[in-house]
Amino acid sequence: MRIPLSAPDIHESDIEAVCRVLRSPQLSLGPKLEEFESAIASYNGAPDAVAVSSGTSGLHLCIRALGIGEGDEVLVPSFTFIAAANAILFEGARPVFVDVEPQTLNIDPAKIETAITPRTHAIMAVHTFGCPAEMSSILEIARGRGLLIIEDACEAIGAEYDKRKAGTIGDVGVFGFYPNKQITTGEGGAIVMRDSKLAGRLRTLRNQGRNSSSDWFDCSELGYNYRLSEMNCALGVEQMKRIDDVLSRREAVARSYHRRLSGNPNLVLPELGMPRHRISWFVYVVRLTSRFDREQRDRIWQEMRSRGIACGRYFAPIHLQPIYRAHAAHADLSNTEAIADRVLALPFFNRITESQIDEVCATLEKLAV
Ligand SMILES: Cc1ncc(COP(=O)(O)O)c(C=O)c1O
Repeated sequence: MRIPLSAPDIHESDIEAVCRVLRSPQLSLGPKLEEFESAIASYNGAPDAVAVSSGTSGLHLCIRALGIGEGDEVLVPSFTFIAAANAILFEGARPVFVDVEPQTLNIDPAKIETAITPRTHAIMAVHTFGCPAEMSSILEIARGRGLLIIEDACEAIGAEYDKRKAGTIGDVGVFGFYPNKQITTGEGGAIVMRDSKLAGRLRTLRNQGRNSSSDWFDCSELGYNYRLSEMNCALGVEQMKRIDDVLSRREAVARSYHRRLSGNPNLVLPELGMPRHRISWFVYVVRLTSRFDREQRDRIWQEMRSRGIACGRYFAPIHLQPIYRAHAAHADLSNTEAIADRVLALPFFNRITESQIDEVCATLEKLAV
């Protein structure tokens, strides 16, 4: 694609930092892991952070460490990346899909109450596309019902709700660092938690169930290899040094798109700002209005691609994926389905130029009529 959908922003200093690790004797469980975990914890004002091999493994460890399993239900939006629901299913718990609200595309607090049953254990609040979920309502519901809150902040590092960092508002929060994210470690993730004792448990589960303070073969429970290598961590340390600049740059790109597309009667644009939210721009996703259907959206997506402009059609609702159909038998997910048919993610990366933004918008406006 001439204009990609996303692009990692790798500096010479990133490459040098990774090469320094490669020249060292320690390629895993070394000083860069500690440095990266400290950088994530201090940036988020969290007591601790545990780096893991991916956002998915981070979510899985949270479900496991919080004791959620067979017979338990976890409320989760269907309009999100499938990893959020997979992490619940890995432990034999049941994802219960809740519809989203159309302004922020996040789980609708008004619909959470009706989805709660005696088996509900937790709410997975996903901060979709970097826009924080309505955390004050979610907290109120969770406190009133004794539910845990897991924040899937994989798309939202640096986002804030009421000046609190996404990921640090619930019981645990997970960030993802796949190459399309605001900052990347290649593959990777990190967990932040309110209860610092939980960090030790997560470190044990990350490393084959091994008790980190004792002998290598002292394993007290079933664990995984969800470690993040020193090379990944070194990249993460360098990327974290620039996070403020990265988030400002991405906000400027979002503002450019907004300026260029606002007033178009065929498009619904994402909110640039809301009083309680600070968005960490992960992607810029527009919606076609209701007079378009999925076929027309797909045609526009294809036409953009044929002109060298990569676009994304996300998300496809999780409850419509064959392995999840049985989990959504009676749920009303009408907003999810209507929105998913009409979304189009536009090329969005730190180094996108004004003329590329112009070309994307001009092409889209010509096609979406
Ligand atoms: C909302 C959400 N949750 C979870 C994940 C999983 O992260 P990873 O791809 O690092 O496993 C992603 C990744 O893209 C995501 O967007």
